[in-house]
Amino acid sequence: MHKCEQLYEGKAKKVFLTENPDVLIVSYKDDATAFNGLKKGMIVGKGAINNRMTNLLFQKIEEAGVPTHYIQELNDRETAVSRVEIVPLEVIVRNVAAGSFSKKLGIEEGTELAEPTIEFSYKNDELGDPLINSYFAKALNLATSNEIETIKKYAFMVNDILKVEFLKAGLRLIDFKIEFGRFHGKIILADEVSPDTCRLWDVESGDKMDKDRFRRDLGNVEEAYIEVARRLGLEIEKE
Ligand code: TMP
Ligand code: ASP
Repeated sequence: MHKCEQLYEGKAKKVFLTENPDVLIVSYKDDATAFNGLKKGMIVGKGAINNRMTNLLFQKIEEAGVPTHYIQELNDRETAVSRVEIVPLEVIVRNVAAGSFSKKLGIEEGTELAEPTIEFSYKNDELGDPLINSYFAKALNLATSNEIETIKKYAFMVNDILKVEFLKAGLRLIDFKIEFGRFHGKIILADEVSPDTCRLWDVESGDKMDKDRFRRDLGNVEEAYIEVARRLGLEIEKE
């Protein structure tokens, strides 16, 4: 498998075509952005950590019955994945109040929710990924009713799997964002699961171990990413 022409460059990844029309290669960057690209920076070593961590977790998710785009890790930063058509929804699952949920609803960060929640944002950078509901998604032809039902079912399954995996690593899964794609008509999990896309708090100290350290200028950003990866059993060299 080898990289052909670059198809796309996003904020955190580059995507390349391969000789197989059903397969892409994603290449994870160290670039970090927040607030829809307003804040820009670099988290050294992040690309390799997010790539390897996503692949580890996608394999566990797949074993538990949710199909994913993962095919094969090629090296520290690059992975072969199934070529999907991304459903333009950011799917956010929350277990504990934090971030925009706390701000919008006036609920203190760290408040445990009575049950997990799900929300959708329309994936559109120009509009700042506005919050929408599933009726909007259907009305705008972003996804069908069946696809939305599948996405909801899979998102809560992913939550159950990730909560257990992170808890084994001494981390509380506060919330996360995932994306899905269509592969030959079927919904599968795509994109990534990493400290860029999850809130992870240390079980003992409550310390934030995720991208909020970058968003909120808390310091020790690289160290937190490395620590999360190590706790999940990945061997990471500091770059
Ligand atoms: P929020 O509280 O800012 O809405 O974020 C909820 C979760 O989604 C949090 O784990 C961070 C993640 N997230 C992304 O992965 N990408 C984004 O663009 C945003 C806004 C949040
Ligand atoms: N997706 C956001 C950005 O574009 C990053 C974030 O806050 O996670 O900058």
